[in-house]
Amino acid sequence: MTGKLILEADADAVARQAAQFFLRWAGEAVERGGRFRVALAGGDTPKALYGLLAADSYRRQVPWHHVHLYWGDERFLPPGHPGRNDTDVLPLWRQAGVLEENIHPVPYVTGPLDPAGHDSQGAAKGLELRMDQAAQRYEALLRRQARPGEPLLDLVLLGLGTDGHTASLFPGTAALDEEDRWVVPNWAAYQDRHPQRITLTLPALNAAEIVMFLVTGEGKRQVLAQVLQSPQGRELPAGRVRPGSGRLVWLADRAAASGLT
Ligand code: 6PG
Repeated sequence: MTGKLILEADADAVARQAAQFFLRWAGEAVERGGRFRVALAGGDTPKALYGLLAADSYRRQVPWHHVHLYWGDERFLPPGHPGRNDTDVLPLWRQAGVLEENIHPVPYVTGPLDPAGHDSQGAAKGLELRMDQAAQRYEALLRRQARPGEPLLDLVLLGLGTDGHTASLFPGTAALDEEDRWVVPNWAAYQDRHPQRITLTLPALNAAEIVMFLVTGEGKRQVLAQVLQSPQGRELPAGRVRPGSGRLVWLADRAAASGLT
């Protein structure tokens, strides 16, 4: 297994432990470089953590004015759409005290519409071009804000899909093998979630100082054991996340870890 596995009793305990790590690592990063740059995970698992961090008990402890937020992946939908990862958590971060100029949602690019309101490049081609433009814009933001000698991000939070995906790096998709770009478009059907995605790539995720996976619930039992303890697991997207710093944490509850030997 690559990384450090920490087990907690249940999902609430995972959220509390993750909040303690967030607080510790925020202090570490702000002391080191005056800012704490975090790429957030989408999906449902991390929402308990985000709610905890926005609560009074943490609001006063975290140096929120030095926190910069990004997303490790996003569904390619207009701002405010309920299917986006950022929509329902943005109010929490504002409540916590993160400065608006330090919140960096993944952009959405509308198409050049002809007078009749149709996508002038033709819907399919237009969508591909718009997704790639959004990915390029997000990568340009990351590059503008990177500093020589500092990690690309101080912390990347990730979830784990039941198929072994993480961020929007899905098994068998080209995005998984991207070696140069930091942000790319991707397409994948997963549950009832929007299939068009923008995602950080493995080079970007592995350039983080710290990567922490949050994995809870019986539904992740099989995939967590596969990723952490099977030879094939190292080839699944989540298994290929290995930050160069070596600082990789798997924070799981007992239900998700019940398949580990
Ligand atoms: C997304 C997420 C995705 C998520 C996993 C786990 O856009 O859906 O970024 O990678 O982390 O699918 O999702 P759950 O936490 O909801 O199980």
